[in-house]
Amino acid sequence: MEKQIPLIIDTDPGVDDMLALRIALCSDAFDVRLVCSVAGNVSLDLTTANALYLTKIWGGDIPVCRGTASPLNIDSSDVHGAGGLGKFRLPSHSFALDPRAATEAMFEALTASDEKLTFVTLGPLTNVAKLLREHPEISACIERIYAMIASKDGTGNITPFAEFNAYCDPAALDTVIRSGVEIVFAPMHLGHEAKLPMAAILSHAAASERQRLQEVFNGYYDDAVGAGYIAMYDANAVEALLHPELYDFVRCVAEVNLSDRPGQTFLRDDPSGHCYRLEIKDRRALIEAMLSDLLPDSAS
Ligand code: RIB
Ligand code: CA
Repeated sequence: MEKQIPLIIDTDPGVDDMLALRIALCSDAFDVRLVCSVAGNVSLDLTTANALYLTKIWGGDIPVCRGTASPLNIDSSDVHGAGGLGKFRLPSHSFALDPRAATEAMFEALTASDEKLTFVTLGPLTNVAKLLREHPEISACIERIYAMIASKDGTGNITPFAEFNAYCDPAALDTVIRSGVEIVFAPMHLGHEAKLPMAAILSHAAASERQRLQEVFNGYYDDAVGAGYIAMYDANAVEALLHPELYDFVRCVAEVNLSDRPGQTFLRDDPSGHCYRLEIKDRRALIEAMLSDLLPDSAS
């Protein structure tokens, strides 16, 4: 086996987070050291409960820590359902959170590691910004941040000008950009291009998974991709690690509006920039990769 990529995942499950988590946790390519929740799609209580359950059923004894509520009291339960996973309700279970706060666990994972760790962030950057503000020197322990956040051209999905994760905590995004840590952006439009038909996921799924997925899908609707489709925003951040050959990594400079259009972002192409924005090279191949990575047991 090739050397595994050591990861910390920060997430606000969320249906597309759930699918991205499934891909990451079921892949042998990753050594997931820690999963942290952040408020976003639904409340911190709900994203934490969802992250705990999903990580434990798919990842085993990976520590899961409760993160931080984002400054805006907003969610996208209209897309992801009241509990954040469509109409799926978590069964009772005996899984337990790691008692540490997310940023404490992140700091300990980074400083205890004999190699740099890669972050995959699937929600607002509230936790990561808090870590970098409290421990600026920790940026030297971070390999890269693969972040589903932002739009490249100032457009948005929660306002006409802002993508949801950026809008929830623009100051956090600004802090992470200014930290100098290399960011690979999986911007909003990739989720619209890489949309998966629910029917294709269900037909690939093992019978044991199908009911849960059907319940999740029953309560999900993103008008950016329409009925019957899942906008795979978050999965792009994971797939870019699994299959970099399916993306162009375009060097850019990132900027976020903190004033009149909060959360509006531009990713301006610049060969001297310290960030990258992803563009899908081969959409059909990516869709196939997502389906087989999502449901490895049924991969043809
Ligand atoms: O704009 C899409 C992002 O907002 C995704 O991460 C989705 O899960 C929501 O958090
Ligand atoms: Ca998310």
